[in-house]
Amino acid sequence: MGRLGLCTALCLEEAGFEVLGSDVIESYVESINKRTLRSGEPRVEEMLQASKNLRCTTGMDEIIRFSDVIMILVATPTGTGADQAYDCGVLSRVLSDLNHRRIKDKHVVICCTVMPTYIDKVARHLLRDCERTTISYNPEFIAQGDVIRGLQNPDMVLIGEGSKEAGDVLEAIHHAMAKNKPVVCRMSPASAEITKLAINCFITTKISYCNMISNIADNTPHADKFAILKAVGSDSRIGSKCLLPGFGFGGPCFPRDNRALGTHARNVGVDPCVSDATDKFNHLHADYIAERMIKNAPHQESFVIDDVAYKPRCPVDIIEESHKLEVAKRLARKGKRVVIKDRPAIVELVRRTYGSMFEYEVELPGGGADEANGESNGATTSSAKKKARLEPTSDMGNPMSSYIR
Ligand SMILES: NC(=O)c1ccc[n+]([C@@H]2O[C@H](COP(=O)([O-])OP(=O)(O)OC[C@H]3O[C@@H](n4cnc5c(N)ncnc54)[C@H](O)[C@@H]3O)[C@@H](O)[C@H]2O)c1
Repeated sequence: MGRLGLCTALCLEEAGFEVLGSDVIESYVESINKRTLRSGEPRVEEMLQASKNLRCTTGMDEIIRFSDVIMILVATPTGTGADQAYDCGVLSRVLSDLNHRRIKDKHVVICCTVMPTYIDKVARHLLRDCERTTISYNPEFIAQGDVIRGLQNPDMVLIGEGSKEAGDVLEAIHHAMAKNKPVVCRMSPASAEITKLAINCFITTKISYCNMISNIADNTPHADKFAILKAVGSDSRIGSKCLLPGFGFGGPCFPRDNRALGTHARNVGVDPCVSDATDKFNHLHADYIAERMIKNAPHQESFVIDDVAYKPRCPVDIIEESHKLEVAKRLARKGKRVVIKDRPAIVELVRRTYGSMFEYEVELPGGGADEANGESNGATTSSAKKKARLEPTSDMGNPMSSYIR
């Protein structure tokens, strides 16, 4: 019951279900049960305080005794190796534990992101001794920092049903949880596994396409990228979302979902040239932004880059595949002095990953800043006046980039 699991549990509880969560970290479980958990995710602390029918345990036997529906939301981090877009090791261990206990009459629901065919080829096999037990796929499309609102107001609920009854149960759960009337798409688990990736990949492709048009406009005399993209987005077949010039996509889901779809395509004999181009253009776009910054200020020695989480004004501390940091890396590699300026937790994350590649400035609550540069990258220091800022303006910050996970 991590970031997404706890939010799901809280929404289920608020919708009237009795919920028993499970996690392996005892102190975390205790902080949920004692209602002392601190979370940067909006509404989590408030909903936890208000919840009456939510408990958490470290015991799997208790979970099995308690539940009809077991939703699994363990992490599936990026794996290693050509086929390993997601490492499903923890998920597979949970399924094996359930099989070892010979569970009966349960609906098991995988909500973690998995590779297409995981359910048919791996999960079903791992639950092979469980009688009258279904296995379904039910991933969420939510944004970090907006998880509760996303869970309660989805555009669409995606159900890869293990049986008609399992699909009916999941549909009823989502209708109870939703404050809106979402479209419910029911299909086989394999179709849902592909759909989860296809939606995110369509968005990444749109972002790369938008950035390509924007760069073409930048390099064409008298062309205005904002006017062009506003007109393009006015076509109802296209739509204006994710169509603002800015940074590329990043974060823990978009880039790897894109790569995962490509991997699955290759596995089934399809050339994923569209996904490949989307990914390639995202890298080229970071080169382009860095080169343009240097071209626009050829004598500039220092650049301050702020708000470097994976999306603008991100309330949670995640820098994974941040496109702004990709630009910062390119500037540093060109010999520029780059100062990363952000709140303390983000600065610490960047420092742990990149060390002396950058210098650091901690933004104090209330807007002040503290020079936190213990690790100069060796570049000649320059006066603050000479620093060029890379603000998250509408020009450089695509507010929709990396938005949906
Ligand atoms: N967080 C999001 O916004 C989001 C969005 C879309 C999809 N997802 C997907 O949802 C899944 C979960 O993501 P997350 O961000 O919530 O991960 P997370 O790392 O925050 O949470 C996973 C939790 O599982 C616990 N855990 C590990 N082994 C366990 C076990 N055997 N039994 C019980 N608990 C165990 C961990 O202690 C941890 O608290 C991933 O597949 C992710 O790709 C997440």
